[in-house]
Amino acid sequence: MKSLQLKSGASMPCIALGSWVGTHPKERAKASSWLLTALEAGYRHIDTAALYGTEGAVGEAVKLSGIPRKDLFITTKLPWHHTRRVRESLDESLKRAGLDYFDLYLIHWPQVVVYENDHPAPLNADGSLMLDETCDFNDTWKEMEKVLASGKVRSIGVSNFSIKTLEQLLKTAKVMPAVLQIELHPYLAQNELLQWCKENGIAVVAYAATGYAVVREDPTVVALAKKYNVTPTQIVLSWHIRRGTGLVTKSENASRQEENLKVIKLHEGDARRIDALDKNRRLCIKPDKQGKVFGWTFDRLGWQEERTPQAEAKL
Ligand SMILES: NC(=O)c1ccc[n+]([C@@H]2O[C@H](COP(=O)([O-])OP(=O)(O)OC[C@H]3O[C@@H](n4cnc5c(N)ncnc54)[C@H](OP(=O)(O)O)[C@@H]3O)[C@@H](O)[C@H]2O)c1
Repeated sequence: MKSLQLKSGASMPCIALGSWVGTHPKERAKASSWLLTALEAGYRHIDTAALYGTEGAVGEAVKLSGIPRKDLFITTKLPWHHTRRVRESLDESLKRAGLDYFDLYLIHWPQVVVYENDHPAPLNADGSLMLDETCDFNDTWKEMEKVLASGKVRSIGVSNFSIKTLEQLLKTAKVMPAVLQIELHPYLAQNELLQWCKENGIAVVAYAATGYAVVREDPTVVALAKKYNVTPTQIVLSWHIRRGTGLVTKSENASRQEENLKVIKLHEGDARRIDALDKNRRLCIKPDKQGKVFGWTFDRLGWQEERTPQAEAKL
């Protein structure tokens, strides 16, 4: 499988299997069986997070697969309410997974959430997420650098950051993030951010990489799928790989897991047709009624608003 060379020196398989399955404990527990079919199908990169509750299932699948640890690449993420206890949180993640190290450890979100009885999403009386404004991701990154030095993680990076928050991070960072994981698909192409990451040597990994049914059913994607005699998802995933990013898809279904591993070579003109679908539209993480994402405005996140036809007309 194709890999991306990270700044840390590590080699990261481009295609990962995701493991977010919602919050139901039964769904989380049964993840080990389909994670195992994915490993048997050839996946060598698994994406999890402390907040997903599937680190244990990932560890179990790894053990059952019998694949040597050195041949696997396991990503996990620091939860937003553990930013003042990075070392402890990482030890807890390792223990749940039954592993000695993770290949990649990401700050899951730039927001810092109050630590209260270890609740992953403590709420204020008005229902908003209880943010901790007394520390920030620059402080967290210092702790990430320490756990990198400990050898318990081989590379460190961030998720859901933007050019704005990355520039803020770089003001104090001693180690550059090796990876940025973000929502990325043909409707949210993030061209400027990709260019910025390229210039700074940060590998980008797409989540919600398929773009779900809305992108699968886009007439351009459907037409290209017919042209290449592949599925619409394979067209989308091939577009990501052509752009030089990694990607994470989640499927519990063995045949879709296999489908998502088979990317093809797209011709330049066809890749341009997919580029033209960009609407700056988020399909996975959407703003709430106040226009905020987990307590932060788009401005604070450094995220761009969706490009509507009305806004385009004004340009
Ligand atoms: N860093 C972050 O904040 C963040 C946020 C979101 C997600 N992620 C990571 O990225 C992973 C993937 O994200 P995601 O689940 O939102 O997006 P996704 O993989 O693009 O979409 C998953 C959905 O698409 C279906 N699917 C997968 N392959 C398919 C195919 N070939 N044809 C038709 N349907 C297909 C799956 O159903 P079946 O299971 O039934 O196949 C599932 O319902 C997550 O599991 C997680 O590891 C990270």
